Amino acid sequence: MTAKRVTLDGIRILVSAGPTFEDIDPVRFLGNRSSGKMGFAIAAAAARRGADVVLIAGPVHMPTPELVQRCDVRSASQMRAAVLANLPADVYIGAAAVADFAPRSIAACKLKKTDGCETLVLELVRTPDILAEVASHSVRPRLVVGFAAETHDVERYARDKLARKHLDLIAANRVGVEGSGFESEDNALVVYGADCERALGPAPKTELADALLDLIAARLQAPQ
Ligand code: PMT
Repeated sequence: MTAKRVTLDGIRILVSAGPTFEDIDPVRFLGNRSSGKMGFAIAAAAARRGADVVLIAGPVHMPTPELVQRCDVRSASQMRAAVLANLPADVYIGAAAVADFAPRSIAACKLKKTDGCETLVLELVRTPDILAEVASHSVRPRLVVGFAAETHDVERYARDKLARKHLDLIAANRVGVEGSGFESEDNALVVYGADCERALGPAPKTELADALLDLIAARLQAPQ
């Protein structure tokens, strides 16, 4: 028997998913291991509940979920522009693994090795923090939900991001371990709010997406 899911009819949800790639030159880039599975599962589950879903996807090989409007981007700055262009929304869920740093400039031609030079120094600059910007935007969504991908001190770092970025909820997951976080089919989340803490999973990302949306739907229904 499938559980009856709380409807999200008429709710506009903006989801980011996947990695960003920050180009170094025409053939090389800085990236990360995000497959997009977590964010795509959330977008698909929200659309099944009747939400009007816009999915901002980094460079991934994933089919577009049914009834989801998808916008493909490559870099953090492109992701920022696409997210901001799709506001206002009722809910923003930042499941993307946005690069924290990008090369200061992109070389026009392939960087060549030179004889006798064994090192290459790249200057990296901070990328825009999309999640923090959405949370402080003049048309702030009613709910801003972040993710925290941590290898250690998961709760401490997640709670710090919750407060510092002015989020309503943050879903923390451990990365760098087999069978959870990046690339895997399964994951385990602990969702923190100022006044709540809820462990979800371990479970397939498709199930976790629904469990997270249950928490979000309950918040949307709660009296303001
Ligand atoms: O894609 P999968 O392979 O399924 O893996 C899922 C996942 C591990 C990528 C996902 O569950 C997850 O944790 N996503 C967030 C990854 C991340 O970048 O975490 P962070 O702790 O570095 O960032 C915190 C939050 O700030 C995130 O919501 C992130 O989207 C956001 N952020 C970060 C940097 C930046 N420049 N802009 C942002 O918006």
